[in-house]
Amino acid sequence: MRNKTIDFSVEDGAIYLKSALNEKDLKKDTSLENVVDKFILGDTYEALKKLPKKSVDLLICDPPYNLNKKFGKNAFLAISSEEYIKYTRKWLSLCMPLLKDNASIYICCDWKCSNEIFSVLKEFAIIQNRITWQREKGRGAKANWKNGMEDIWFASTTEDYYFNLSAVKQRRRVLAPYKDNGKPKDWTQTPDGKYRDTCPSNFWDDISVPYWSMSENTAHPTQKPEKLIAKLILASSKEGDVVLDPFGGSGTTAVTANKLNRRFISIEQNPQYVAWSIKRLDTAKLDKTIQGYEDGVFWERNTQLNLKRTKK
Ligand SMILES: C[S@@+](CC[C@H](N)C(=O)[O-])C[C@H]1O[C@@H](n2cnc3c(N)ncnc32)[C@H](O)[C@@H]1O
Repeated sequence: MRNKTIDFSVEDGAIYLKSALNEKDLKKDTSLENVVDKFILGDTYEALKKLPKKSVDLLICDPPYNLNKKFGKNAFLAISSEEYIKYTRKWLSLCMPLLKDNASIYICCDWKCSNEIFSVLKEFAIIQNRITWQREKGRGAKANWKNGMEDIWFASTTEDYYFNLSAVKQRRRVLAPYKDNGKPKDWTQTPDGKYRDTCPSNFWDDISVPYWSMSENTAHPTQKPEKLIAKLILASSKEGDVVLDPFGGSGTTAVTANKLNRRFISIEQNPQYVAWSIKRLDTAKLDKTIQGYEDGVFWERNTQLNLKRTKK
């Protein structure tokens, strides 16, 4: 199988960067129409100050975790818990005025910075839940348990937030197919097995990290899967809504939002990642598939997409 990883230099990506907006060119009174569905290249702390207030329906944040991590030429260096709290408060306080009154917020983190993120998030919003994503892949530790999970904090600006449960149903294989009067109770027989569409819990074990044979894969060191972001977007926004990602990386939030007919604002400081994001968006315009999401439901991890299926 061909390696599909998107990985090219800034020079080779110059053609893509032509359609990016430079944060330095944004004005204080930039209108939503001028920034939406474009990638903003620059420092998120500066760009956020210039975005229109009360225009965002959904905020999805995947900030650098409190670890030493290289993001191309830039690096995030681990800081104390107190400093990480200040760092988080600084960017979150810039995001908050941009949100509409019924907006939802998701912030990704690992076990180490989860407490700090939680403590800052609750200063600004109403915490609704904590999702745990079982990552499957993780680096082995010499004298510790391998980290195989991440947290995603879910919050809202008010209690009047939008949540579409039926858009994020999970199709699971039925282990004990109960029948009522000889008929399947809440499950469907398909050529490849018996399935039930279930309400998703806050434990997500159906999503793998992007890997080399997936067309969404890039060389970004901490890329999130489109399937994971699709769940957040489908549950917490409507078509046409505006989704903001202040740490855009390889463009996963933006590309997934576009595939699901939402609008996006994406900010990233590394031009190489922005070029990859724009390349991904170009591809998404021709191919809207999201690996693991088909027929309006989320399938179990690594389900073969070419299986013959019948609809309910
Ligand atoms: C954890 S990664 C996000 C990955 C992204 N969710 C994806 O799927 O590719 C964090 C990103 O934030 C970017 N970043 C960190 N500080 C930034 C800043 N001050 N302004 C803009 N981008 C920043 C990094 O370059 C990195 O790509």
